[in-house]
Amino acid sequence: MRKDFDKKTIITPLPVVMIGTYDENGVPNLMNAAWAGQVDAHQILISLSKHKTTENLKLKGEFTVSFATADTVKESDYFGMESGRGVNKIEKAGFHAVKAEHVDAPLFEEYPLTLECRVVEMADDSDGYLLTGETVNMSVDESILTDGKVDLGKMKPIMFDSAMNKYRVIGEIVGDAFKDGLTLK
Ligand SMILES: Cc1cc2nc3c(=O)[nH]c(=O)nc-3n(C[C@H](O)[C@H](O)[C@H](O)COP(=O)(O)O)c2cc1C
Repeated sequence: MRKDFDKKTIITPLPVVMIGTYDENGVPNLMNAAWAGQVDAHQILISLSKHKTTENLKLKGEFTVSFATADTVKESDYFGMESGRGVNKIEKAGFHAVKAEHVDAPLFEEYPLTLECRVVEMADDSDGYLLTGETVNMSVDESILTDGKVDLGKMKPIMFDSAMNKYRVIGEIVGDAFKDGLTLK
């Protein structure tokens, strides 16, 4: 037996993307975004309402994208519930920002994997924007590498569970991509 939920849409997993920007005074800011995905080898798409972050994006045209982890749940959730307009969220949360090497945007020591991105397009749909960004560099803390590769088991990224309004950790390996299905071919 199946149950219908009308138009309710669940796409899973939704990432918990942290967008880092500078404002006109060089104050770093972070916001939480779950409506995000990778659409090409080096391109990402994020659906945004109007925020301090979108003002900063228009101003600088550059940003960072980091991923919330099991170790940073409380702070990452906070960055999604207070606006950086008039508040230094980074100081309040006790996070540490340094300038990213390749873009005019902040990088945060607490997040182990960060994409440094340029704005390709901010398509305005009156309520907000569909942001297309292009990665110019990815930097990773060595603590989450295994044999030189990013190890999500060490990184412990979290996903946004939109069915239950929870954060869940991602990590367990259950199969080999492009391989396990071959036995049925
Ligand atoms: C779990 C979660 C997911 C969110 N996803 C989005 C999103 O995809 N797009 C968006 O515009 N806002 C999203 N938000 C809301 C923003 O993060 C929030 O409005 C934030 O305060 C904006 O910060 P700023 O004004 O400093 O830029 C999300 C918040 C949470 C807690």
